[in-house]
Amino acid sequence: MTELLGTLPRSEFGRGSTADEVTAGVDLSGKTILLTGCTSGIGLETMRTLAKRGGHVIGVGRTQEKADKAWQSVSESGVKGNVTPLGCELEDFAAVAELADKVRAMNTPIDILICNAGIIGRSKLQAIRGIEKQFAVNHLSHFILINRLLGQVKAASQGRVVIVASDAHETTLPGGIAFDNLSGATGYGALKFYGQSKLANLLTARELARRLENSGTTANALHPGFVYTNIFHNLPAFLSGPLKVLARPFMKSPAAGAATTCYVAASPALAGVSGQYFSDCNPAVPSAYGRDDALALRLWEVSEELVQDYLR
Ligand SMILES: NC(=O)c1ccc[n+]([C@@H]2O[C@H](COP(=O)([O-])OP(=O)(O)OC[C@H]3O[C@@H](n4cnc5c(N)ncnc54)[C@H](OP(=O)(O)O)[C@@H]3O)[C@@H](O)[C@H]2O)c1
Repeated sequence: MTELLGTLPRSEFGRGSTADEVTAGVDLSGKTILLTGCTSGIGLETMRTLAKRGGHVIGVGRTQEKADKAWQSVSESGVKGNVTPLGCELEDFAAVAELADKVRAMNTPIDILICNAGIIGRSKLQAIRGIEKQFAVNHLSHFILINRLLGQVKAASQGRVVIVASDAHETTLPGGIAFDNLSGATGYGALKFYGQSKLANLLTARELARRLENSGTTANALHPGFVYTNIFHNLPAFLSGPLKVLARPFMKSPAAGAATTCYVAASPALAGVSGQYFSDCNPAVPSAYGRDDALALRLWEVSEELVQDYLR
């Protein structure tokens, strides 16, 4: 399998590296970074690190108040950065479009667009506009954001789209994406649908990279590792209980969990690298579905149809 990685650059960093370590010496002054899910876990640490390196971080939280508080906590920890906190409920596609319009009105190139926000659903099916909730929040909201802001990313000297996916993409549904059951109504399992949404993240980066070929703008996806964050609080108690107690010693801290995101977002070594999947700050091979270009194209086209009212 490793032959699939060809001549991609490898880094000296690994599982235990922190976001601070992988960005040491990187100067992001003059760069604008838009980051979703900045209020907790991996996103909060990503915001702290990229602001510390001099970037202007547009930190998006579920509400303005939550985003303000997140930035306040980072600045109280001693980071003197330039952060614009913004609120957006990603379940609400009209709000996502509004967020994109606000960012467009800033009239600045976006050097790095990081799609990080995410949920793992409860065992009970929940749908938004007839679409299963994890697919809607983890994939479709970011699909809208990417499409509406792509012009600004392309306007940057080396724009990057960075999508936080997961190795959980390997535990998706048969066929990869259940196009005939995106509502979950004809069969649902929370973890399989989480896997499907994370496969959608990975395939979006892959198809976007194909569309951006030779443009200088890149798109990559990543697995942050198994990280101790709030995301597991929504799992059914029989899963979240043992996770909190038994699995915690084997989980990464948010400082290490944000390392791969920060590496893919900011490393000069990856300036020309696109359409790849990263884990532990190095290239990794996704599942067969994650390498399926026809599936990636179909997902893109179906997603366009599903959210067509919000794309322009
Ligand atoms: N932790 C892991 O082991 C792990 C492993 C693989 C992949 N990932 C991925 O890493 C990313 C970050 O997760 P995390 O572990 O850092 O989890 P987290 O601590 O729960 O952070 C998730 C962030 O997303 C935001 N968010 C969720 N739903 C939202 C919505 N509807 N509207 C606006 N914002 C929303 C959350 O806001 P609130 O605080 O307001 O909910 C929070 O800021 C996710 O994409 C996740 O799938 C995590």
